Amino acid sequence: MTTFLVTGGAGFIGSHVCDRLLAEGHRVVAVDDLSTGHIANLMEARSYGKAFTFFNMDVRAEGLLPLFERYRPEVVVHLAAQAGVRPSLADPVHDASVNVMGFLNVMECAVRTGVRKVVYAASGGTMYGEPKRLPVKETAPGRPISPYGISKRVALDYLAYYERFRGIDWTALALANVYGPRQDPSGEAGVVGIFATKMLAGEAPTIFGDGNQTRDFVFIDDTVHAIALAVEHGSGRLVNVGTGIETSVNRLYEMLAALTGFAGQPSYGPLPPGELRRISLDPSLAAEVLGWKPWTHLEDGLGETVAYLKGV
Ligand SMILES: NC(=O)c1ccc[n+]([C@@H]2O[C@H](COP(=O)([O-])OP(=O)(O)OC[C@H]3O[C@@H](n4cnc5c(N)ncnc54)[C@H](O)[C@@H]3O)[C@@H](O)[C@H]2O)c1
Repeated sequence: MTTFLVTGGAGFIGSHVCDRLLAEGHRVVAVDDLSTGHIANLMEARSYGKAFTFFNMDVRAEGLLPLFERYRPEVVVHLAAQAGVRPSLADPVHDASVNVMGFLNVMECAVRTGVRKVVYAASGGTMYGEPKRLPVKETAPGRPISPYGISKRVALDYLAYYERFRGIDWTALALANVYGPRQDPSGEAGVVGIFATKMLAGEAPTIFGDGNQTRDFVFIDDTVHAIALAVEHGSGRLVNVGTGIETSVNRLYEMLAALTGFAGQPSYGPLPPGELRRISLDPSLAAEVLGWKPWTHLEDGLGETVAYLKGV
């Protein structure tokens, strides 16, 4: 049994990570300030009793160190973040405060209490900027076009520093567009949740831009599996977690309309700044170093997400 500390544990990805680790028989301490996460996401985790502990705490807080000292986690999964492009454009200082200073507080606590490994969620959809070649490889130069992309990328240099000079092991996963049950449809990151929720309510979603922009959609279960594998593999590496497949927003719209039975036409709005034209992540390094491959077909993952939103 390993003790894990999961930051952002009440969020979309974090809550699924908690469930998976608990199901494997580990002890999990989740830290989340509930700024975008929900306590309701932790219903399953709570049923594990003493193996699961939740703290409503900001990762920037001084109280984080005593918490690390008390629980002595062996592994930290760092997911707490300001996780949207648009909020980062509106308030880059807040973005950096959480994504850089909060991250550093976690790293300092980890070093001081002898954490063995940190698994970090990087953002494959923003940290590479507009790639020259698709699917993009981890070696591609990073030219992020939003403060969010920058703040998530900066952590990679810090991780290399912490490994070299402070003796901590890490793996950073460049996550594609993760979708699935529990994604907050009121947020900005989850186009799947936003479209499907609107369609189920009989409302026309808005497509930003012409809808020909592409994204790489990876299902939550596959993402959680990559995070679980990264606990023991991929030391000191940045590893893409995506499908390598580009799907246009228009195609996503069609697929969700078919699944929800929505017959209306979308409305169109201007493409906001900070949004890429095309992205997909090459998953071949993940196969090599993590033993991970994308598993869930988009049709199946969308079907599961729609069923969840319908409460089926
Ligand atoms: N969902 C995606 O498609 C995607 C893609 C790439 C990277 N990521 C990264 O994965 C991680 C999780 O994203 P998510 O989609 O689950 O988003 P999310 O917003 O559901 O999860 C983030 C969690 O962090 C918490 N949080 C925010 N600021 C905090 C703070 N200062 N202290 C403590 N907790 C704080 C929020 O309350 C939330 O529960 C983030 O680091 C994000 O950047 C997500």
